[in-house]
Amino acid sequence: MKIGIFDSGIGGLSVYHRARKTLPGADFIYYADEKNVPYGQKPPETVRGYLKDIFGFMLEKDVKAVVVACNTATSVLSKQFRESFSLPIIGMEPAVKKAADLYSAEKKTIVVAATPNTIKGDKLKRLVQRYSEDNDIVLLPMPHLVDFAEKGVFDGEQVREYIKNCLAEVDLSKIGTYVLGCTHFNYFKKIYTDILPHSVHYVDGNEGTVNQLIRVMKLDSFRQGEGKTEFYFSGRKIDAAEKEKIDNCLKLLDEVYNI
Ligand code: DGL
Repeated sequence: MKIGIFDSGIGGLSVYHRARKTLPGADFIYYADEKNVPYGQKPPETVRGYLKDIFGFMLEKDVKAVVVACNTATSVLSKQFRESFSLPIIGMEPAVKKAADLYSAEKKTIVVAATPNTIKGDKLKRLVQRYSEDNDIVLLPMPHLVDFAEKGVFDGEQVREYIKNCLAEVDLSKIGTYVLGCTHFNYFKKIYTDILPHSVHYVDGNEGTVNQLIRVMKLDSFRQGEGKTEFYFSGRKIDAAEKEKIDNCLKLLDEVYNI
């Protein structure tokens, strides 16, 4: 049984990384839409067009479920689209619920960093509304982090300056929790910890998404074994240089997550 996982690019590898560590016996197809990345500032209708192709590809590959390892793609997926697709779709949204459940009592600011499309989307608006009575929630668009990640620039003066500028209007001392609401942002955790107070908690949706996949597809028996993964860039098999790029990302994610 194969499970499809996709993102606009390398961000969703952070979800794949967690899935692979949790389910070593499962077979995966990872699809990065490298031809069309980034999704975060494109018209939602355009992104929906890309998603049609990707879901078609997943059906051809005979996967049994699709994980949308992209907050932006999930935010533009319509209910009709989900209902018209014959397989389970496991989407992801910025982990505002997790942040509120765990850290609301601290009475500090929850910063949600995401792409402009996710931030403008109705789904996040509704989610924030649900939790804003008891929490101070600040939404922070950071589109260029996706470009840095895709170029393999995971640290350095330019990225650090960019992150500091995005946070310029926020009182850093008030931040209690930082929600990584775009899978590409997970690569920069080291920089946030250098810039933000040490007491800040970081949450992302990866673990929750993988747990949801396991629940929906009843995958507990795959917690052992040795499964395979095929990697595709916008529908074609990756070459040796692209495989190296992915391996480097997975190595970095080993450090980020320490798993
Ligand atoms: N990684 C994606 C997300 O989680 C989006 C990045 C992009 O293509 O802009 O939102």
